[in-house]
Amino acid sequence: MIDISNAGQVFGPAHAGGVRALDGINLAIRDREIVTLVGPSGCGKSTLLRLISGLIAPTEGTIRIDGEKVVTPRQDTGIVFQAPTLLPWATVLENVMFPSTIMGRADAAAQQRARELLKVAGIAEFANHRPRQLSGGMQQRAAICRALVHNPSILLMDEPFGALDALTREVMTIELMRIWTAAPKTIVFVTHSIPEAVILADRVVVMSPRPGRIAEIIDVNLPRPRTFALAGDPEFQRCAERIRSLIFGEQGVRFDVQH
Ligand SMILES: Nc1ncnc2c1ncn2[C@@H]1O[C@H](COP(=O)(O)OP(=O)(O)OP(=O)(O)O)[C@@H](O)[C@H]1O
Ligand SMILES: [Mg+2]
Repeated sequence: MIDISNAGQVFGPAHAGGVRALDGINLAIRDREIVTLVGPSGCGKSTLLRLISGLIAPTEGTIRIDGEKVVTPRQDTGIVFQAPTLLPWATVLENVMFPSTIMGRADAAAQQRARELLKVAGIAEFANHRPRQLSGGMQQRAAICRALVHNPSILLMDEPFGALDALTREVMTIELMRIWTAAPKTIVFVTHSIPEAVILADRVVVMSPRPGRIAEIIDVNLPRPRTFALAGDPEFQRCAERIRSLIFGEQGVRFDVQH
């Protein structure tokens, strides 16, 4: 469904010390697959997500979705950015409704869906508040609701749970899988948490330090539905160990990835 072919990204003029963020990325993501991206800070994870989203165009190679070259953001893609990006003057509900509003589909059904998502995210009683009245983690939960409101077939999530406390983070991870089971979609999910990467993924893409390349792709052969109780499963441990050794390898400990 998502076909990334020889994609590379150089920021700034290559001849004048441009920054190479990505190099020779080849990745085919299947319909309804959950792929997680892990790798050290600055290896190009956010950049790769922005390429898939159509927010930026690759300086090399191509990104195709259902055979069509991605040139601009698509309505059928939901995005959760690394930092919450809510409109400060709009209410939480209006923020969550935003994708439906710009598509001219802010009807009663969309509003009901928005309210249901807020309930799932545990922030229903803040529907009429402004974002500044919410904590950082609550704002991020609202941003996740916004990405889901129009039921996109592709969901791109850039460390969506990074601002959440450990407990809420586990709850949201399980909730995301429940939403995926009810309405399967293709998910590309960036995380610094190795357990989160494994528990969510059909495949974990491990990236190497800048310039970002794919170091290895790991198949996670765990049954669904999953819970964090699977962390004791040998398959979980095999995957987590493999990711750890790829990231920490011979280069010493990298403090930006959680064990
Ligand atoms: N708009 C930009 N202009 C110039 N350089 C950029 C831009 N965006 C990213 N970069 C550079 O590209 C590289 C990859 O950045 P990116 O944000 O994709 O990394 P990341 O893997 O998401 O890191 P983190 O885990 O810290 O979020 C970095 O060296 C960064 O400085
Ligand atoms: Mg990033």
